[in-house]
Amino acid sequence: SRPKITVVGSANVDLTFRTPRLPIPGETFAGHSLHQGMGGKGANQAVVAARLGAEVAFVARVGNDGFATQAIDAYQADGINTTFIRHSDDQPTGTAAILVDDEAENCIIVVAGANAELTADDVRSAKAIITESDVVICQLETPVEAALEAFKLARAANVLTMLTPAPAELVTDELLSLCDVCVPNKTEIAAITGCGVETEADCVTAAEKLRQRGVRQVALTMGEEGVLVLDETGMSLIPATQVKAVDTTGAGDAFTGALAVSLAEGMSLASAASRAGIVAAISVTRVGTQTSFPSLEEINRWNQAEQTG
Ligand code: RIB
Ligand code: NA
Repeated sequence: SRPKITVVGSANVDLTFRTPRLPIPGETFAGHSLHQGMGGKGANQAVVAARLGAEVAFVARVGNDGFATQAIDAYQADGINTTFIRHSDDQPTGTAAILVDDEAENCIIVVAGANAELTADDVRSAKAIITESDVVICQLETPVEAALEAFKLARAANVLTMLTPAPAELVTDELLSLCDVCVPNKTEIAAITGCGVETEADCVTAAEKLRQRGVRQVALTMGEEGVLVLDETGMSLIPATQVKAVDTTGAGDAFTGALAVSLAEGMSLASAASRAGIVAAISVTRVGTQTSFPSLEEINRWNQAEQTG
């Protein structure tokens, strides 16, 4: 049967401006193009999981505006259960202004809007679907109270809990103590643990610190340097698939959503991370977040091409 995944988190509309380079204060110049697509860490993770074949429910807040309608239509087109998405009357759907230059460097401004109004009560309304899930994924672009409620319900029902600790400042001890799988990047793990992340040994120490705070499995995403995974069986370094980066926005979400599906299918952390790494790598070769995420067919084609050289 298909893995069941519930994502509790943010929904944004991403406006991606391709520019020759990033601007400096006071500067005005012409960009190459504008791409509008759906984003937000929560929605991104939900969409990836759905494209990889999971049965996905998304618990979120949007506004009462045109962007909300577009977002919900897009999630439904990906087969996502949108029953638990509530509308806020006084806040707009979240938006992100994303600048991506010719070198794939980016700058992002996120306006949370309705995302800031997601409540523990919204999460409780989805209790039945959460407790029937294989995995529940949260991030912190929505209030930490919502994530905490989701993890409490999941833990009580023996459902795997997965956290993208972004923004890292919002992570709490209680949340970590309820977290089975934590998927930080280097900046986030440094902020949470206070450890340096210069060397591989530093990164292992930081990941161990997370385990000491209650996290069972850590998958530290390091971009082109790959992913460092650590669980009770030890540490391994999964090399990244090398691609020409066009837009790395949302690659971490592609990784996390894919990791959830593979773990739900029973793969080991290391195998799941290596499959998820391919999904993230494909996403980096294209503009946008959800618009750049691959389907299962594309991943299978990619794997076949790799095997036949
Ligand atoms: O992780 C990438 C996401 O962060 C973007 O889709 C943007 O909406 C921001 O939430
Ligand atoms: Na992309």
